[in-house]
Amino acid sequence: MQARVVPLEEGKDPTVINKTNQSRALPFRLFQLFGLFLAVCIAFSLISIYTIRRFGVQSVVASVKNGFEPCLEQPNDLDHWINPSSNLMHTMNDTELFWRASFVPRIKEYPFKRVPKIAFMFLTKGPLPLGPLWEKFFKGHEDRYSVYIHALPSYEAKFPSSSVFYKRQIPSQISEWGKMSMCDAERRLLANALLDISNEWFILVSESCIPLYNFSVIYHYIKKSKYSFMGAFDDPGPYGRGRYNENMAPVVNVTQWRKGSQWFEINRNLAVNIVEDTTYYPKFTEFCRPACYVDEHYFPTMLSVQAPNLLANRSITWVDWSRGGAHPATFGRADITEEFFKRVFEGQECKYNNQPSTTCFLFARKFAPSALEPLLNISSKVLGF
Ligand SMILES: *[C@@H]1O[C@H](CO)[C@@H](O)[C@H](O)[C@H]1NC(C)=O
Ligand SMILES: *[C@@H]1O[C@H](CO)[C@@H](O)[C@H](O)[C@H]1NC(C)=O
Ligand SMILES: *[C@@H]1O[C@H](CO)[C@@H](O)[C@H](O)[C@H]1NC(C)=O
Ligand SMILES: *[C@@H]1O[C@H](CO)[C@@H](O)[C@H](O)[C@H]1NC(C)=O
Ligand SMILES: *[C@@H]1O[C@H](CO)[C@@H](O)[C@H](O)[C@H]1NC(C)=O
Repeated sequence: MQARVVPLEEGKDPTVINKTNQSRALPFRLFQLFGLFLAVCIAFSLISIYTIRRFGVQSVVASVKNGFEPCLEQPNDLDHWINPSSNLMHTMNDTELFWRASFVPRIKEYPFKRVPKIAFMFLTKGPLPLGPLWEKFFKGHEDRYSVYIHALPSYEAKFPSSSVFYKRQIPSQISEWGKMSMCDAERRLLANALLDISNEWFILVSESCIPLYNFSVIYHYIKKSKYSFMGAFDDPGPYGRGRYNENMAPVVNVTQWRKGSQWFEINRNLAVNIVEDTTYYPKFTEFCRPACYVDEHYFPTMLSVQAPNLLANRSITWVDWSRGGAHPATFGRADITEEFFKRVFEGQECKYNNQPSTTCFLFARKFAPSALEPLLNISSKVLGF
Protein backbone atom coordinates (compact mmCIF):
# COMPACT_ATOMS: atom_id res chain seq x y z
CA MET A 1 0.00 0.00 0.00
CA GLN A 2 2.72 2.38 1.09
CA ALA A 3 4.82 1.61 -1.97
CA ARG A 4 1.96 2.50 -4.28
CA VAL A 5 0.99 5.62 -2.45
CA VAL A 6 4.42 7.24 -2.34
CA PRO A 7 5.23 7.28 -6.07
CA LEU A 8 1.77 8.69 -6.68
CA GLU A 9 2.40 11.49 -4.26
CA GLU A 10 5.94 12.03 -5.56
CA GLY A 11 4.64 12.56 -9.04
CA LYS A 12 2.30 15.23 -7.84
CA ASP A 13 4.63 17.01 -5.48
CA PRO A 14 8.28 17.43 -6.52
CA THR A 15 9.31 18.71 -3.04
CA VAL A 16 8.64 15.22 -1.64
CA ILE A 17 11.31 13.66 -3.86
CA ASN A 18 13.99 15.83 -2.25
CA LYS A 19 13.33 14.46 1.22
CA THR A 20 15.37 11.23 0.91
CA ASN A 21 16.43 10.91 4.55
CA GLN A 22 15.13 7.46 5.70
CA SER A 23 14.79 8.36 9.39
CA ARG A 24 12.63 11.35 8.52
CA ALA A 25 10.83 9.58 5.68
CA LEU A 26 8.97 6.98 7.78
CA PRO A 27 7.03 9.39 10.10
CA PHE A 28 6.56 11.63 7.12
CA ARG A 29 5.06 8.79 5.09
CA LEU A 30 2.79 7.91 7.98
CA PHE A 31 1.76 11.52 8.09
CA GLN A 32 1.17 11.43 4.33
CA LEU A 33 -0.93 8.30 4.64
CA PHE A 34 -2.97 9.86 7.39
CA GLY A 35 -3.50 12.91 5.19
CA LEU A 36 -4.59 10.78 2.30
CA PHE A 37 -6.97 8.85 4.55
CA LEU A 38 -8.42 12.15 5.77
CA ALA A 39 -8.86 13.38 2.20
CA VAL A 40 -10.67 10.20 1.21
CA CYS A 41 -12.94 10.52 4.25
CA ILE A 42 -13.79 14.13 3.43
CA ALA A 43 -14.39 13.32 -0.21
CA PHE A 44 -16.67 10.45 0.70
CA SER A 45 -18.61 12.61 3.17
CA LEU A 46 -19.10 15.29 0.55
CA ILE A 47 -20.29 12.75 -2.00
CA SER A 48 -22.63 11.24 0.59
CA ILE A 49 -24.12 14.60 1.56
CA TYR A 50 -24.57 15.51 -2.09
CA THR A 51 -26.15 12.16 -2.87
CA ILE A 52 -28.48 12.25 0.13
CA ARG A 53 -29.68 15.69 -0.95
CA ARG A 54 -30.25 14.53 -4.49
CA PHE A 55 -31.43 10.98 -4.32
CA GLY A 56 -32.54 10.42 -0.74
CA VAL A 57 -31.09 8.12 1.85
CA GLN A 58 -32.09 4.84 0.22
CA SER A 59 -29.92 5.22 -2.85
CA VAL A 60 -26.88 6.12 -0.71
CA VAL A 61 -27.28 2.94 1.25
CA ALA A 62 -27.64 1.07 -2.02
CA SER A 63 -24.56 2.70 -3.56
CA VAL A 64 -22.42 2.07 -0.51
CA LYS A 65 -23.27 -1.59 -0.88
CA ASN A 66 -22.37 -1.40 -4.55
CA GLY A 67 -18.85 -0.29 -3.69
CA PHE A 68 -18.38 3.44 -3.32
CA GLU A 69 -19.64 4.50 -6.74
CA PRO A 70 -22.65 6.70 -5.98
CA CYS A 71 -22.27 8.75 -9.15
CA LEU A 72 -22.61 5.70 -11.39
CA GLU A 73 -26.06 4.94 -9.94
CA GLN A 74 -27.87 7.35 -12.24
CA PRO A 75 -26.15 7.75 -15.58
CA ASN A 76 -26.30 11.28 -16.80
CA ASP A 77 -28.04 10.56 -20.09
CA LEU A 78 -31.51 11.20 -21.49
CA ASP A 79 -32.81 7.73 -20.72
CA HIS A 80 -34.14 8.45 -17.28
CA TRP A 81 -36.04 11.46 -18.66
CA ILE A 82 -37.50 9.54 -21.58
CA ASN A 83 -38.21 6.13 -20.14
CA PRO A 84 -40.56 6.23 -17.19
CA SER A 85 -39.59 4.11 -14.24
CA SER A 86 -41.58 0.88 -14.26
CA ASN A 87 -41.89 1.34 -10.52
CA LEU A 88 -44.48 3.99 -9.69
CA MET A 89 -43.45 4.14 -6.04
CA HIS A 90 -41.47 7.17 -4.96
CA THR A 91 -40.76 8.97 -1.72
CA MET A 92 -41.78 12.49 -2.83
CA ASN A 93 -44.44 14.21 -0.79
CA ASP A 94 -47.09 16.25 -2.63
CA THR A 95 -45.09 19.49 -2.53
CA GLU A 96 -42.09 17.78 -4.08
CA LEU A 97 -44.14 15.70 -6.52
CA PHE A 98 -46.13 18.67 -7.88
CA TRP A 99 -42.97 20.71 -8.30
CA ARG A 100 -41.31 17.91 -10.21
CA ALA A 101 -44.47 17.27 -12.28
CA SER A 102 -44.64 20.91 -13.36
CA PHE A 103 -41.42 20.68 -15.41
CA VAL A 104 -42.12 21.65 -19.03
CA PRO A 105 -39.55 21.52 -21.84
CA ARG A 106 -39.27 24.81 -23.67
CA ILE A 107 -37.84 23.32 -26.85
CA LYS A 108 -40.93 21.92 -28.46
CA GLU A 109 -39.25 19.32 -30.65
CA TYR A 110 -38.35 16.11 -28.85
CA PRO A 111 -34.81 14.73 -29.45
CA PHE A 112 -36.24 11.20 -29.62
CA LYS A 113 -39.17 9.45 -31.22
CA ARG A 114 -42.02 10.32 -28.88
CA VAL A 115 -45.18 8.25 -29.28
CA PRO A 116 -47.83 10.25 -27.44
CA LYS A 117 -49.70 8.11 -24.93
CA ILE A 118 -53.05 8.31 -23.19
CA ALA A 119 -52.80 8.08 -19.43
CA PHE A 120 -55.85 6.26 -18.08
CA MET A 121 -56.31 7.34 -14.49
CA PHE A 122 -58.56 5.12 -12.41
CA LEU A 123 -60.08 6.79 -9.38
CA THR A 124 -61.46 4.04 -7.18
CA LYS A 125 -62.06 3.15 -3.56
CA GLY A 126 -60.47 -0.22 -4.08
CA PRO A 127 -60.97 -3.04 -6.55
CA LEU A 128 -61.64 -2.67 -10.30
CA PRO A 129 -64.49 -5.13 -10.92
CA LEU A 130 -64.61 -4.29 -14.64
CA GLY A 131 -60.83 -4.74 -14.97
CA PRO A 132 -61.07 -7.75 -17.33
CA LEU A 133 -63.05 -5.67 -19.85
CA TRP A 134 -60.37 -2.96 -19.75
CA GLU A 135 -57.66 -5.61 -20.18
CA LYS A 136 -59.41 -6.71 -23.35
CA PHE A 137 -59.67 -3.09 -24.47
CA PHE A 138 -55.96 -2.35 -23.91
CA LYS A 139 -54.63 -5.57 -25.42
CA GLY A 140 -52.28 -4.95 -28.33
CA HIS A 141 -51.80 -1.20 -27.79
CA GLU A 142 -49.04 -1.33 -25.20
CA ASP A 143 -47.02 1.57 -26.61
CA ARG A 144 -49.88 4.06 -26.59
CA TYR A 145 -51.32 4.01 -23.10
CA SER A 146 -50.32 3.99 -19.48
CA VAL A 147 -52.39 3.16 -16.43
CA TYR A 148 -52.52 4.81 -13.02
CA ILE A 149 -54.72 3.84 -10.09
CA HIS A 150 -55.60 5.92 -7.08
CA ALA A 151 -57.24 3.75 -4.46
CA LEU A 152 -57.82 4.24 -0.76
CA PRO A 153 -54.46 3.89 1.02
CA SER A 154 -55.79 0.95 3.03
CA TYR A 155 -56.63 -1.02 -0.10
CA GLU A 156 -54.12 -3.66 -1.08
CA ALA A 157 -54.29 -4.47 -4.79
CA LYS A 158 -53.90 -8.08 -5.86
CA PHE A 159 -53.46 -8.01 -9.63
CA PRO A 160 -51.47 -10.80 -11.28
CA SER A 161 -48.16 -9.71 -12.84
CA SER A 162 -49.64 -10.20 -16.32
CA SER A 163 -52.32 -7.56 -15.65
CA VAL A 164 -52.19 -4.01 -17.05
CA PHE A 165 -53.09 -2.92 -13.52
CA TYR A 166 -50.18 -4.74 -11.86
CA LYS A 167 -48.21 -2.29 -9.68
CA ARG A 168 -49.93 0.72 -11.26
CA GLN A 169 -51.22 2.04 -7.96
CA ILE A 170 -49.75 5.46 -7.23
CA PRO A 171 -48.42 6.33 -3.79
CA SER A 172 -51.29 7.84 -1.83
CA GLN A 173 -51.00 10.45 0.86
CA ILE A 174 -54.59 11.00 1.72
CA SER A 175 -54.75 11.46 5.43
CA GLU A 176 -58.18 13.01 5.81
CA TRP A 177 -61.09 12.33 3.49
CA GLY A 178 -63.50 15.19 3.10
CA LYS A 179 -62.26 18.70 2.32
CA MET A 180 -60.59 18.71 -1.13
CA SER A 181 -59.98 14.97 -1.12
CA MET A 182 -61.57 14.10 -4.47
CA CYS A 183 -59.70 16.80 -6.36
CA ASP A 184 -56.57 16.14 -4.33
CA ALA A 185 -56.67 12.56 -5.55
CA GLU A 186 -57.22 13.71 -9.13
CA ARG A 187 -54.35 16.20 -8.96
CA ARG A 188 -52.12 13.52 -7.51
CA LEU A 189 -53.05 11.18 -10.35
CA LEU A 190 -52.22 13.91 -12.85
CA ALA A 191 -48.90 14.71 -11.16
CA ASN A 192 -47.81 11.08 -11.15
CA ALA A 193 -48.88 10.62 -14.76
CA LEU A 194 -47.01 13.79 -15.80
CA LEU A 195 -43.76 12.17 -14.68
CA ASP A 196 -43.92 10.11 -17.88
CA ILE A 197 -42.96 12.61 -20.60
CA SER A 198 -44.76 10.56 -23.25
CA ASN A 199 -48.18 10.92 -21.63
CA GLU A 200 -49.96 13.53 -23.76
CA TRP A 201 -53.63 13.03 -22.80
CA PHE A 202 -55.07 12.29 -19.39
CA ILE A 203 -58.41 10.58 -18.90
CA LEU A 204 -60.07 10.19 -15.55
CA VAL A 205 -62.30 7.14 -15.16
CA SER A 206 -63.90 5.35 -12.26
CA GLU A 207 -64.23 1.69 -11.39
CA SER A 208 -67.73 1.71 -12.89
CA CYS A 209 -66.71 3.16 -16.29
CA ILE A 210 -66.42 1.20 -19.53
CA PRO A 211 -65.02 2.15 -22.95
CA LEU A 212 -67.64 2.40 -25.71
CA TYR A 213 -65.25 1.89 -28.65
CA ASN A 214 -62.06 0.00 -29.34
CA PHE A 215 -58.70 1.51 -28.50
CA SER A 216 -57.87 2.76 -32.01
CA VAL A 217 -61.12 4.67 -32.33
CA ILE A 218 -60.71 6.32 -28.93
CA TYR A 219 -57.04 7.13 -29.50
CA HIS A 220 -57.70 8.86 -32.79
CA TYR A 221 -60.75 10.70 -31.51
CA ILE A 222 -58.66 12.18 -28.70
CA LYS A 223 -55.59 12.77 -30.84
CA LYS A 224 -57.42 14.59 -33.62
CA SER A 225 -59.49 16.77 -31.30
CA LYS A 226 -58.63 20.46 -31.14
CA TYR A 227 -60.18 20.64 -27.71
CA SER A 228 -59.95 18.85 -24.40
CA PHE A 229 -63.11 17.25 -23.07
CA MET A 230 -63.78 19.00 -19.82
CA GLY A 231 -67.45 19.52 -19.09
CA ALA A 232 -68.03 23.18 -18.27
CA PHE A 233 -71.22 25.21 -18.36
CA ASP A 234 -72.74 28.17 -16.61
CA ASP A 235 -75.75 26.93 -14.61
CA PRO A 236 -77.73 29.88 -13.28
CA GLY A 237 -79.73 27.67 -10.88
CA PRO A 238 -79.21 26.72 -7.24
CA TYR A 239 -76.92 23.77 -8.13
CA GLY A 240 -74.75 26.03 -10.28
CA ARG A 241 -74.28 29.67 -9.43
CA GLY A 242 -76.16 28.92 -6.22
CA ARG A 243 -73.02 27.18 -4.96
CA TYR A 244 -70.79 30.15 -5.65
CA ASN A 245 -69.38 31.92 -2.61
CA GLU A 246 -68.78 35.69 -2.79
CA ASN A 247 -65.57 35.27 -0.82
CA MET A 248 -63.91 33.79 -3.89
CA ALA A 249 -63.89 37.17 -5.59
CA PRO A 250 -61.83 38.68 -7.06
CA VAL A 251 -60.01 35.42 -7.90
CA VAL A 252 -63.26 33.89 -9.16
CA ASN A 253 -66.19 36.08 -10.10
CA VAL A 254 -69.73 34.63 -10.30
CA THR A 255 -69.79 35.09 -14.10
CA GLN A 256 -66.72 32.85 -14.31
CA TRP A 257 -68.25 30.12 -12.15
CA ARG A 258 -68.63 26.84 -14.07
CA LYS A 259 -70.03 23.40 -13.43
CA GLY A 260 -69.16 20.12 -15.12
CA SER A 261 -68.79 16.38 -14.79
CA GLN A 262 -65.83 15.16 -12.81
CA TRP A 263 -64.85 12.66 -15.54
CA PHE A 264 -62.56 14.54 -17.90
CA GLU A 265 -60.01 14.22 -20.68
CA ILE A 266 -57.34 16.92 -20.80
CA ASN A 267 -54.08 17.40 -22.63
CA ARG A 268 -50.64 17.80 -21.09
CA ASN A 269 -50.72 21.61 -20.98
CA LEU A 270 -53.96 21.68 -19.02
CA ALA A 271 -52.69 18.94 -16.72
CA VAL A 272 -49.70 21.13 -15.88
CA ASN A 273 -52.04 24.09 -15.28
CA ILE A 274 -53.90 22.00 -12.72
CA VAL A 275 -50.82 20.67 -11.01
CA GLU A 276 -49.11 24.06 -10.76
CA ASP A 277 -52.19 25.90 -9.51
CA THR A 278 -51.74 27.79 -6.25
CA THR A 279 -54.22 30.59 -7.05
CA TYR A 280 -57.59 28.85 -7.25
CA TYR A 281 -56.84 25.85 -5.07
CA PRO A 282 -56.86 27.72 -1.73
CA LYS A 283 -60.09 29.54 -2.65
CA PHE A 284 -61.89 26.31 -3.49
CA THR A 285 -60.51 24.55 -0.41
CA GLU A 286 -61.79 27.32 1.81
CA PHE A 287 -65.04 28.41 0.12
CA CYS A 288 -66.36 25.41 -1.79
CA ARG A 289 -67.68 23.10 0.93
CA PRO A 290 -70.81 20.94 0.67
CA ALA A 291 -73.33 21.59 -0.71
CA CYS A 292 -70.69 22.98 -3.08
CA TYR A 293 -68.88 20.02 -4.62
CA VAL A 294 -65.30 20.84 -5.49
CA ASP A 295 -64.99 18.08 -8.07
CA GLU A 296 -67.88 19.59 -10.08
CA HIS A 297 -66.54 23.15 -10.07
CA TYR A 298 -62.82 23.52 -9.45
CA PHE A 299 -61.29 22.28 -12.73
CA PRO A 300 -64.16 23.51 -14.98
CA THR A 301 -64.02 27.01 -13.47
CA MET A 302 -60.25 27.31 -13.32
CA LEU A 303 -59.65 26.05 -16.85
CA SER A 304 -62.50 28.15 -18.28
CA VAL A 305 -60.70 31.22 -16.94
CA GLN A 306 -57.18 30.15 -17.90
CA ALA A 307 -57.67 28.35 -21.19
CA PRO A 308 -61.26 28.71 -22.50
CA ASN A 309 -60.13 28.20 -26.09
CA LEU A 310 -58.78 24.72 -25.35
CA LEU A 311 -62.01 23.34 -23.91
CA ALA A 312 -64.82 21.49 -25.69
CA ASN A 313 -66.95 22.25 -22.60
CA ARG A 314 -68.49 18.79 -22.74
CA SER A 315 -67.70 15.47 -21.15
CA ILE A 316 -66.98 12.30 -23.15
CA THR A 317 -68.42 10.03 -20.49
CA TRP A 318 -72.03 8.98 -21.01
CA VAL A 319 -74.26 8.71 -17.99
CA ASP A 320 -78.00 8.22 -17.59
CA TRP A 321 -79.79 10.78 -15.46
CA SER A 322 -83.18 9.95 -16.95
CA ARG A 323 -84.33 8.03 -13.88
CA GLY A 324 -84.13 11.25 -11.84
CA GLY A 325 -82.83 11.62 -8.31
CA ALA A 326 -79.44 12.60 -6.98
CA HIS A 327 -77.56 9.71 -8.56
CA PRO A 328 -77.38 8.49 -12.15
CA ALA A 329 -78.63 5.03 -13.09
CA THR A 330 -76.45 2.00 -12.47
CA PHE A 331 -76.59 -0.88 -14.94
CA GLY A 332 -76.25 -4.51 -13.97
CA ARG A 333 -76.31 -7.94 -15.58
CA ALA A 334 -79.89 -7.76 -16.85
CA ASP A 335 -79.38 -4.40 -18.55
CA ILE A 336 -76.53 -5.46 -20.83
CA THR A 337 -78.17 -6.20 -24.17
CA GLU A 338 -77.66 -5.09 -27.76
CA GLU A 339 -80.79 -2.97 -27.43
CA PHE A 340 -79.29 -1.20 -24.46
CA PHE A 341 -76.21 -0.19 -26.44
CA LYS A 342 -78.32 0.81 -29.40
CA ARG A 343 -79.99 3.26 -27.04
CA VAL A 344 -76.61 4.53 -25.80
CA PHE A 345 -75.25 5.12 -29.31
CA GLU A 346 -78.39 6.44 -30.91
CA GLY A 347 -79.44 10.04 -30.74
CA GLN A 348 -76.01 11.38 -29.88
CA GLU A 349 -75.47 14.90 -31.14
CA CYS A 350 -72.59 17.20 -30.41
CA LYS A 351 -69.81 19.26 -31.96
CA TYR A 352 -66.48 17.64 -32.72
CA ASN A 353 -63.85 20.13 -33.91
CA ASN A 354 -66.68 22.60 -34.54
CA GLN A 355 -68.50 20.13 -36.84
CA PRO A 356 -71.74 18.31 -35.99
CA SER A 357 -70.98 14.74 -34.90
CA THR A 358 -72.87 11.68 -33.73
CA THR A 359 -69.88 10.26 -31.87
CA CYS A 360 -69.96 12.17 -28.62
CA PHE A 361 -69.27 9.75 -25.80
CA LEU A 362 -66.23 7.45 -25.67
CA PHE A 363 -66.92 6.06 -22.21
CA ALA A 364 -70.00 5.25 -20.16
CA ARG A 365 -70.93 4.83 -16.54
CA LYS A 366 -72.20 3.46 -14.21
CA PHE A 367 -71.86 -0.29 -14.48
CA ALA A 368 -72.16 -2.71 -11.59
CA PRO A 369 -69.75 -5.64 -11.14
CA SER A 370 -72.52 -7.99 -12.26
CA ALA A 371 -72.39 -6.37 -15.72
CA LEU A 372 -68.89 -7.72 -16.36
CA GLU A 373 -69.77 -11.16 -17.68
CA PRO A 374 -72.36 -10.07 -20.23
CA LEU A 375 -70.13 -7.13 -21.21
CA LEU A 376 -67.25 -9.49 -22.01
CA ASN A 377 -69.64 -11.59 -24.03
CA ILE A 378 -71.08 -8.76 -26.04
CA SER A 379 -68.08 -6.37 -26.33
CA SER A 380 -66.67 -7.61 -29.64
CA LYS A 381 -70.08 -7.25 -31.21
CA VAL A 382 -71.24 -3.87 -29.89
CA LEU A 383 -68.09 -2.15 -28.64
CA GLY A 384 -65.63 -3.25 -31.32
CA PHE A 385 -63.09 -4.98 -29.06
C1 LIG B 1 -42.61 18.01 1.79
O1 LIG B 1 -41.27 17.97 2.17
C2 LIG B 1 -40.64 19.25 2.20
C3 LIG B 1 -39.17 19.02 2.48
O2 LIG B 1 -38.98 18.08 3.49
C4 LIG B 1 -41.31 20.12 3.26
O3 LIG B 1 -40.71 21.39 3.28
C5 LIG B 1 -42.77 20.24 2.90
O4 LIG B 1 -43.47 20.99 3.87
C6 LIG B 1 -43.42 18.88 2.75
N1 LIG B 1 -44.77 19.08 2.22
C7 LIG B 1 -45.82 18.39 2.65
C8 LIG B 1 -47.13 18.68 2.00
O5 LIG B 1 -45.72 17.55 3.53
C1 LIG C 1 -62.08 -0.58 -34.16
O1 LIG C 1 -63.39 -0.23 -34.47
C2 LIG C 1 -63.54 0.34 -35.76
C3 LIG C 1 -64.97 0.82 -35.91
O2 LIG C 1 -65.85 -0.08 -35.31
C4 LIG C 1 -63.16 -0.68 -36.83
O3 LIG C 1 -63.26 -0.11 -38.11
C5 LIG C 1 -61.70 -1.11 -36.58
O4 LIG C 1 -61.35 -2.14 -37.47
C6 LIG C 1 -61.51 -1.58 -35.15
N1 LIG C 1 -60.09 -1.75 -34.91
C7 LIG C 1 -59.59 -2.84 -34.40
C8 LIG C 1 -58.10 -2.87 -34.22
O5 LIG C 1 -60.29 -3.77 -34.05
C1 LIG D 1 -67.24 39.88 -13.07
O1 LIG D 1 -66.34 40.08 -14.14
C2 LIG D 1 -66.91 40.73 -15.26
C3 LIG D 1 -65.88 40.76 -16.35
O2 LIG D 1 -64.69 40.19 -15.99
C4 LIG D 1 -67.38 42.11 -14.84
O3 LIG D 1 -67.98 42.76 -15.95
C5 LIG D 1 -68.37 42.00 -13.72
O4 LIG D 1 -68.70 43.28 -13.24
C6 LIG D 1 -67.79 41.20 -12.57
N1 LIG D 1 -68.84 40.96 -11.62
C7 LIG D 1 -68.66 41.09 -10.31
C8 LIG D 1 -69.84 40.76 -9.45
O5 LIG D 1 -67.60 41.42 -9.82
C1 LIG E 1 -66.05 26.70 -24.21
O1 LIG E 1 -66.48 27.75 -23.37
C2 LIG E 1 -65.65 28.90 -23.40
C3 LIG E 1 -66.22 29.90 -22.42
O2 LIG E 1 -66.14 29.39 -21.10
C4 LIG E 1 -65.58 29.46 -24.80
O3 LIG E 1 -64.69 30.55 -24.84
C5 LIG E 1 -65.08 28.36 -25.75
O4 LIG E 1 -65.09 28.83 -27.08
C6 LIG E 1 -65.98 27.16 -25.65
N1 LIG E 1 -65.45 26.07 -26.48
C7 LIG E 1 -66.02 25.64 -27.60
C8 LIG E 1 -65.35 24.54 -28.34
O5 LIG E 1 -67.05 26.13 -28.00
C1 LIG F 1 -73.55 -14.34 -24.84
O1 LIG F 1 -74.23 -13.69 -25.92
C2 LIG F 1 -75.05 -14.54 -26.70
C3 LIG F 1 -75.71 -13.73 -27.80
O2 LIG F 1 -74.87 -12.67 -28.22
C4 LIG F 1 -76.11 -15.21 -25.84
O3 LIG F 1 -76.82 -16.14 -26.62
C5 LIG F 1 -75.43 -15.92 -24.66
O4 LIG F 1 -76.42 -16.42 -23.81
C6 LIG F 1 -74.54 -14.96 -23.91
N1 LIG F 1 -73.85 -15.65 -22.83
C7 LIG F 1 -73.74 -15.12 -21.61
C8 LIG F 1 -72.99 -15.96 -20.62
O5 LIG F 1 -74.22 -14.04 -21.31
